[in-house]
Amino acid sequence: MRVERIPSKEALYERAVAIIEEVKAQGAHTFGLATGGTMEPLYAKLCDTSIDFSDAVSFNLDEYVGLDPTHEQSYNNYMHHHLFNQKPFKASYLPNGLATDATKEAARYEALLNEQPLDFQLLGIGVNGHIGFNEPGTSFDSVTHVVDLTPSTREVNARYFDSLEEVPHKAFTMGIQSILRANCILLIAIGESKRTALQALINNDYTEQVPATALTKHPNVIVLTDLVK
Ligand code: GLP
Repeated sequence: MRVERIPSKEALYERAVAIIEEVKAQGAHTFGLATGGTMEPLYAKLCDTSIDFSDAVSFNLDEYVGLDPTHEQSYNNYMHHHLFNQKPFKASYLPNGLATDATKEAARYEALLNEQPLDFQLLGIGVNGHIGFNEPGTSFDSVTHVVDLTPSTREVNARYFDSLEEVPHKAFTMGIQSILRANCILLIAIGESKRTALQALINNDYTEQVPATALTKHPNVIVLTDLVK
């Protein structure tokens, strides 16, 4: 794992764009993408580049269960708004929040991921160390599944909704194994609230209580953070 500490957010996001540009130039075809506030400036910067994703495929990490793909707070809508409308991919996959059978939908998504293995995976990190929506305690053997969101994650994400009550209680997420199968992983951790979770990762802890620490066993992880020691 390579940790790059870049205090300037501007420089950090430029570095992230350069990494994505490089993996694409090296032939990456299948990109795992993430949502969250951390990714918004990155997608804005990507949209300002000439990188062409029209021959590439994207898979998102997660999606809320029960939200229509057109719902303002669905991750499908987030991705179109921040990236896909400006930078279309040949195909873009997200779990369908409205699938009638959520377990079947998770299996369908995992099968798609198996058919088109990820060359690259972009990750944010939750305050509690979650990656995707893999909450503390998730098995490191997990594949795409349906999760019950923790009260703390619902509270953190409530800022995007009109009220806490509107935040879904469940979500689809790629599992830890689905993420670890990617050839190259870029995790971005910005802000003091991420310090404890990031520290566990950097300390090489390996515990299901901090899902991000699963990455310590992956051979090709880059961490970009604005947190200096
Ligand atoms: C969300 C998403 C994650 C994201 C994380 C951090 O709940 N499911 O994929 O990485 O929380 O979000 P933010 O970047 O807004 O801190």
